Amino acid sequence: MRTTLTKDPDEAAAFIRSGGIVAFPTETVYGLGAAVFDESAVKRIFDAKRRPADNPLIAHIADLEQIHLLAAVIPTSAQKLIDTFFPGPLTIVLQKTDRVPLIATAGLNTIGIRMPRFALAHQFLTACGTPVAAPSANVSGRPSPTTWQAVAEDLEGRIDCILKGEATEIGLESTVVDCTSAVPVVLRSGSVTIEKLRDVVSEIKGINPAETGISKSPGMRHVHYSPRARVIITGSGEQDATEDDAAYIGISRPHTQFGIVMVATDVEDYARSLFEFFRECDRRGLGLIYCEPVEETGFGAALMDRISRAASK
Ligand code: TXA
Ligand code: MG
Repeated sequence: MRTTLTKDPDEAAAFIRSGGIVAFPTETVYGLGAAVFDESAVKRIFDAKRRPADNPLIAHIADLEQIHLLAAVIPTSAQKLIDTFFPGPLTIVLQKTDRVPLIATAGLNTIGIRMPRFALAHQFLTACGTPVAAPSANVSGRPSPTTWQAVAEDLEGRIDCILKGEATEIGLESTVVDCTSAVPVVLRSGSVTIEKLRDVVSEIKGINPAETGISKSPGMRHVHYSPRARVIITGSGEQDATEDDAAYIGISRPHTQFGIVMVATDVEDYARSLFEFFRECDRRGLGLIYCEPVEETGFGAALMDRISRAASK
């Protein structure tokens, strides 16, 4: 299959309207989209990504009206989060309408909904004229793509089109909040932090598998965000040996020599750089990646979640 590369959101959307699958940029990571009500198009996403069929997709919308095509009920807590954080890097899980095919939700009667704020994503979704089901545009298990080149590396020849945009602004996937129970539950941390969520809905449960039940968040069962290299969380920048076949990423400057070093300016910069850094280490065939830990508050919680997952492969 030839993959069309374009910067034109209308050209990319034409593939969606005719049953195709298209990678597109958002403020978090690149997504791989298909028209959500088109079962055979949605199936193609799972095939192209080699995604397990039990991992549900997020439906992306261009305007708030489209929520009603997807969600049967909108509880007050969800409405408050929508009013505050849409468009933006937040996904809300709600009871789905009958129209949403079960293949998109991996058999669940709930659907994740997100309205990206990135302008090119908004133009693309508007031109699609339908909500678009989209997981991250990587082969399952690989780090999420933050550049169109990373999408091409994983999926060129397997998808119809890549809408080329800039490197993504945030670099980690959206916060996912399940609003189907009386007390909403954060299923995945992101740049909409638990502190920000609690400012709007005072009672929200954090991610604690023992407390929330792992079956609620199917994506958590699968290996995520992993480079081929082994990931090790270090003490603050300290490493004894000189290691040319190892890499280091963190905020403090390391004391010794590494094959590749990335010193980020702050937590945001670290998060934005992490997945592309993992990919670059794989391209260079490095065996080990040392990641400096950051404090697990605010956005640091999401960053440490992704680093810990990569380290526990
Ligand atoms: O930032 C993002 O969310 C990106 C961009 C493209 O929007 N998308 C993304 O999709 O990261 P994906 O498929 O890689 O991750 C979606 C996560 C998975 O952990 C999945 O299990 C969870 O959201 N999820 C989706 N629908 C769900 C549902 N109905 N119930 C519980 N969890 C759900
Ligand atoms: Mg993903």
